[in-house]
Amino acid sequence: MRLKKAVFPAAGFGTRFLPATKAIPKEMLPLVDKPLIQYAVEEAKASGLEEMIIVTGMGKTAIEDHFDTSFELEILLKEKGKLDLLNMIENVSGLVHFAYTRQKKPLGLGHAISITQNLINDEAFAVFLGDDIIDSKTPAMKQMAGVFEKYGTSILAVQKVSKKDAHLYGVIKGKKVSPGVWRVLDLVEKPRENPPSNLAIIGRYILTPGIFKALEKTAPGKGGEIQLTDALKHLLETEEIYAYEFEGNRYDAGDKLGFLKANVSFALKRADLKVEFKKFLKDLGL
Ligand code: UTP
Repeated sequence: MRLKKAVFPAAGFGTRFLPATKAIPKEMLPLVDKPLIQYAVEEAKASGLEEMIIVTGMGKTAIEDHFDTSFELEILLKEKGKLDLLNMIENVSGLVHFAYTRQKKPLGLGHAISITQNLINDEAFAVFLGDDIIDSKTPAMKQMAGVFEKYGTSILAVQKVSKKDAHLYGVIKGKKVSPGVWRVLDLVEKPRENPPSNLAIIGRYILTPGIFKALEKTAPGKGGEIQLTDALKHLLETEEIYAYEFEGNRYDAGDKLGFLKANVSFALKRADLKVEFKKFLKDLGL
């Protein structure tokens, strides 16, 4: 049961990041010097996934261009002898195999996943929400793939959050079965009060193909959108689901503050930037 396919839902409007996201896809916002979505694709590749399926929508063509070959740019860099940059650009387009499918209307994350059914067929697959940037020694999805190998069920990435932040997430009720692993008993999307636990679902999932049937049964929920959490509740009626608390630091880069934190933290790790950048931060005298 090896995972081969990765789905990247990227058809949302990114309203939390307006006006930056009016004409530029949120997924193309740079974290230091790489677009957010490239971090997720690189995590997928480093986790052994081979086929990247990106769900795009209106105004998202920059994502396709980014992962495509750019002949003119490559010729220019060759002529100017900028071989290190050329190498970097070729690495992006040669990353892996990409397929694109278009969600005509942003009817929700669950809906975005449902339209990948004909590209997935009958196998388990990984889902990456590019907003969630996870900085970890072992790629988060690779950690999850290890749990999937053991249980063979859908696996949800979870992280502990404070009670006051629980309303921002899907939250699970679970029974701990081993260190960092819970059997999911119930899920609640963005609980207004009394969250069933402090375990919030983060943007990494391994889903069995049973999710497509569950999505068919799912009516529009919060915000009038077809919610993946609601579909997972239906999936629970027929299959077990496990949750896994991954190791690593996660940044919500779809949110302005989270995006700033991620940029500072990633810049401070960069050999070419850290000395000057650290000095700049120190000189701010905060
Ligand atoms: P978000 O809830 O972050 O929505 O979607 P959003 O539109 O991207 O951003 P905000 O909240 O308005 O700022 C979670 C993920 O699901 C995708 C988004 O692209 C994001 O990766 N998504 C959401 C879709 O692909 N289609 C949808 O209809 C909704």
